[in-house]
Amino acid sequence: MAKIEDLILQIPNERLRAGIAAEVKALKKTKKFGLVFEEHLPETVRLPRLPVKPGELVALKREAGNQLWRVKTIHKNIATCDRAVTGYPAAGEANQQFPVSDLVVVRSFGDAIYPALVSVGRVERGSPDKPWHVVINAENFHTLQLLLYCYEGKVDAIYIDPPYNSGARDWKYNNDYIDKNDPWRHSKWLSMMQKRLKLAKRLLNPTDSVLIVTIDEKEFQRLALLLEQQFPGCTIQMVTTVINPKGTARYNEFSRVEEYVFFVFIGAAKLQSTGKDMLTNRDYAAESEVRWRGLARTGRKGLRSNNPGSWYPIFLKKSDFSIHSIGDAIGREIAEASVKVPHGTIAVWPPNKDGHEYSWSTVPETLRTIQAKGGFKTGRINPAKNSFPFYYLSTGAFEKIANGEIVVTGRGPMNELIIEFADGAKSAAPRSVWNQVAHDAGSHGTSLLQRLIPGKKFPFPKSLYAVEDALRFFIQRKTNALVLDFFGGSGTTTHAVARLNKQDGGSRRSILITNNEVSADEAEALRQSGFEPGQPDWEVHGIFEQVTRPRIVAAFSGKTPDGHAISGDYKFNDEFPIADGFEENVEFFSVDFLDPDAVARGDAFQAILPILWMMAGCRGVREESKGSQAWFFPKQAPFGVLIKEKEFRAFREALAERRQIEWIYLVTDSEENFGLMRRTLGRKFHCVQLYKNYLENFRINTPEVLIEGGAA
Ligand SMILES: C[S@@+](CC[C@H](N)C(=O)[O-])C[C@H]1O[C@@H](n2cnc3c(N)ncnc32)[C@H](O)[C@@H]1O
Repeated sequence: MAKIEDLILQIPNERLRAGIAAEVKALKKTKKFGLVFEEHLPETVRLPRLPVKPGELVALKREAGNQLWRVKTIHKNIATCDRAVTGYPAAGEANQQFPVSDLVVVRSFGDAIYPALVSVGRVERGSPDKPWHVVINAENFHTLQLLLYCYEGKVDAIYIDPPYNSGARDWKYNNDYIDKNDPWRHSKWLSMMQKRLKLAKRLLNPTDSVLIVTIDEKEFQRLALLLEQQFPGCTIQMVTTVINPKGTARYNEFSRVEEYVFFVFIGAAKLQSTGKDMLTNRDYAAESEVRWRGLARTGRKGLRSNNPGSWYPIFLKKSDFSIHSIGDAIGREIAEASVKVPHGTIAVWPPNKDGHEYSWSTVPETLRTIQAKGGFKTGRINPAKNSFPFYYLSTGAFEKIANGEIVVTGRGPMNELIIEFADGAKSAAPRSVWNQVAHDAGSHGTSLLQRLIPGKKFPFPKSLYAVEDALRFFIQRKTNALVLDFFGGSGTTTHAVARLNKQDGGSRRSILITNNEVSADEAEALRQSGFEPGQPDWEVHGIFEQVTRPRIVAAFSGKTPDGHAISGDYKFNDEFPIADGFEENVEFFSVDFLDPDAVARGDAFQAILPILWMMAGCRGVREESKGSQAWFFPKQAPFGVLIKEKEFRAFREALAERRQIEWIYLVTDSEENFGLMRRTLGRKFHCVQLYKNYLENFRINTPEVLIEGGAA
């Protein structure tokens, strides 16, 4: 019981005691425990391509921040506007006039917006059956909403490295950089993160997935509480990781060498052992293998003359070189040639090197006993090189099996035991403090980026190997995993997923979202030079244009942007020349926002096609179409679109000739017709209804999309 209840119990007057108890109980209901932070005005989005019309919410292009106006009338390109607060009329400041060309349309929470993906490049180096990575230049809040249409509950891992809210104007809330003097900077950061985490949660596979979030000293306590609040019931662990062993000096403070990584285990997510404890450099994978001894002896003591009883043949089947039987020892008086070789076998004698005959390590009787217990096997046989290695388990190994130090986990094709050290797995369990040379952000983040795209600057990219290692714990055995990073920055996550695929031939794919932000100083300079966001001269300076896309193109192709082979080798888990690139495919998109009333039907079809391709798993080269035909089957992607529903019968016939189709989009405004067509097509296909007003199918920012999932 809390102190207050104890004190209440001591009130002698019964009625007063009951009255105060009731008041306190009511008060307690309104008091929140845990993370409490101020709500902020909902985030708005500027849509430079939409026309300014009466009734629209607008902002002045040249102004940062969120000063909004509602257009009342437009006369001779002059708009008369009233001040508005995200949609509501504000006191005063009515009838202000601005040239229409100075205004930009703004959408606030609840105003539907219609996103479209516009291709801005691709790299095709993977085999046709490899799914494509997707990299999107956009504000993540809206793109996450769009992704819900394609991947709700389907994402295996989300890795994010959000702005750390350092106070150094490193991120924007509602179009304004947040600096250290902003008294609301923590609640704005929390507000921004909360909205995105709610959407992220809906994207993650509820039965088995992981959310990984990196953070530093500025927000780690608040992030911990936020995650706990958003992911109740999930195991959440914070790992401390050394990323800068030299330390960042702080006046009168400990020099910081670390940051933090939060892991949220969703559903049945399991840590997959990688043979590394992350704290030390011990290679448990190598250590946990119990050593099998070579059967062939070497050295003077191993000469045949010293071990006549250990000179005998081992018979291997000619068909597959598996062990047929173990022969008997022969003395000097019996010639090898006179030994009877069983039908269909070859005899392998102890090795003869430099004119010296050696022996096997045991007498044949012992070897037969060992074999019966599963302790004898061949190694990699190469008859052309006369190489026939044999291995056996020593008496010591069998003793360890008996006392449990070594455990038997199965039998191999020669009936040999598959064994490992019992504590191998235990001692390799990854620790919650990581100290890996590979995770140094300077050497393997910033310097690596310089090799890939010389001369381009990006603040604090992660070490490539740090991202790779964090993901490996959860997707090493999920070779088709879908990975999302919605604070993509320089593109490290896409690069890391490509490396994981290279290591095991996997087909994992990533979706990376990052905005095309310019730094606060650059924004100031550009504004002074008369440019504004949305103009090509401004956008060309953004992170996506300058860093994200060129870095991923360079990593995949192995060439710098000016066409030179990239020098140096990758290190750690998989070492090979950076110039080799990766056999992976990636397509880059920008998000555009369209006006469904102003877009021609063909353009709208074209605009949603990339979304349909994504929904069908990003497979096969993406194609363009205006959708003027009765149906559309891309050459490679596994989907089809029935555009004219009257042609359903012919569409079915055409479908029967195509083997690879898995997704079918049926354009109809009638739920009933959709149901009928879906039933006729059967369960073999994922059928999706598409409204004829194509853009309506993917509208976002509405209460249905946000409030249903609780992201408002
Ligand atoms: C800390 S960086 C991520 C660095 C990344 N892990 C790397 O290794 O390069 C965060 C990135 O998120 C981007 N970003 C911030 N807010 C965003 C938003 N609302 N939507 C999309 N991207 C955003 C920033 O432009 C920045 O590049």
